[in-house]
Amino acid sequence: MIKTRKIRKFFPAIKAGRIISNNAASTQIPIQLLDLLKKLAVQYDNVHRGQSKSSIITTEEFEASYDTIAQFIGAPSRRNIILYRNATEAINSVMYSLMTEFKDGDNIVTTFMEHNSNYVPWYGLCKEILPKFGINVECRIVKFDKDTGELDLKHLKSLVDKKTKLVCCVGASNFLGTKNPIKKIREIANSSGYIQPGGEKRSYLLVDGAQLVPNVFIDVKELDVDFLVWSFHKMMAPFGVGALYAREELLQRMKPFLYGGDMIAEGQVSPEKVDWNVLPWKFTAGTPNILGTILSAQAIRLMMDFALNPGKHKYFMTDKKLEPEEIKKAMDNIEDHERVLVEEAMKMLSQIPELDIYGPKDPSSRTSLVAFNLKTGNPFEISEKLSKVGIESRAGCHCATLAHHYYKLNPPASCRLSFYIYNDLGDVKKSCLAVKKYVQSK
Ligand SMILES: Cc1ncc(COP(=O)(O)O)c(C=O)c1O
Repeated sequence: MIKTRKIRKFFPAIKAGRIISNNAASTQIPIQLLDLLKKLAVQYDNVHRGQSKSSIITTEEFEASYDTIAQFIGAPSRRNIILYRNATEAINSVMYSLMTEFKDGDNIVTTFMEHNSNYVPWYGLCKEILPKFGINVECRIVKFDKDTGELDLKHLKSLVDKKTKLVCCVGASNFLGTKNPIKKIREIANSSGYIQPGGEKRSYLLVDGAQLVPNVFIDVKELDVDFLVWSFHKMMAPFGVGALYAREELLQRMKPFLYGGDMIAEGQVSPEKVDWNVLPWKFTAGTPNILGTILSAQAIRLMMDFALNPGKHKYFMTDKKLEPEEIKKAMDNIEDHERVLVEEAMKMLSQIPELDIYGPKDPSSRTSLVAFNLKTGNPFEISEKLSKVGIESRAGCHCATLAHHYYKLNPPASCRLSFYIYNDLGDVKKSCLAVKKYVQSK
């Protein structure tokens, strides 16, 4: 397990006595990043827009952040990384950038376990936008097994055909916890026979990695995904930065999502023609979230240090290349740690007969979250009661609205506990015990 004792002292929120069990929504910021923010606040200038030493240094740090982010997921280079405000915006950017490529009769395949971020944009494209241009694209939705929380791969295979331009799938569900078999999904998308504009014969695969990238080792080359998105506020960084990884040839061909300053080739704007900047800046219109980007990359470096040797800074605030074996070791440590936490949570919660627990029974098939309902009761009341005893959980549909309706839940909601690298077994036990006490008090 990760040496949480050595990590916890770096988190002001934990030192303040909070029991943070809502990490699938957002994680907390360590002191190292808060100190870095203070330092940057007195030395920054805008990037790509100044000759001052401040602007040059900030530009270097900003651009190097893209290298760190690319290395972390095994992407070939910074040209594969586009940063937006969050994972949701990153998915929307793919939707808008690909919009002109869709042909009448195409389809998109997504799943019933998606976060609304990876369903509603495709719904909007198919139902609201493309029909206005006389183009009909169907949005197909794959079922999952209500008992095991597993995606129904047979159903997926039956929905994917030679008209499937895109398969959009969550890497790990933020409601069920299920980690999806991305390689198998890739195989199915490969076999569709869809002819893409570049001549490639397969469906694109977009993976929503919001609950995967912070918790599990990811190598985009090995997984062969076309698009991967995630957010940094779920991995210790402040709010405001989400990432899109995409294959370079796709980004070269795709239309920009946002148009404006800095995304154009230097001086190449005339009434007749505008040329785009090189990647990744072609997709970075306007002043970006400069400090957020630097903090996000440093959050990765710090997370690696926490997972490998807490208290020692090998990667944080250095320009050391992140080595794939070390990334794997760090992320495997995080995954192991979280498995122990969720195993304990599952064990304690499953001893409460009044609860329905969603998702895979095997802790190693899930990320470190567990959602449940009282057979006769309201999840909001559980979360409110937990909050009164200092346990931070979340009740609601967690934006996995399709899945909650799929279970016919009324209200479409559940209570969720979710843990991260700084949580220890004590946090898990206190949270689950509070649930037990609440149920007994009913
Ligand atoms: C699986 C999943 N996808 C997408 C998102 C959306 O992330 P963001 O709010 O950062 O856009 C979340 C956030 O909870 C998530 O859990």
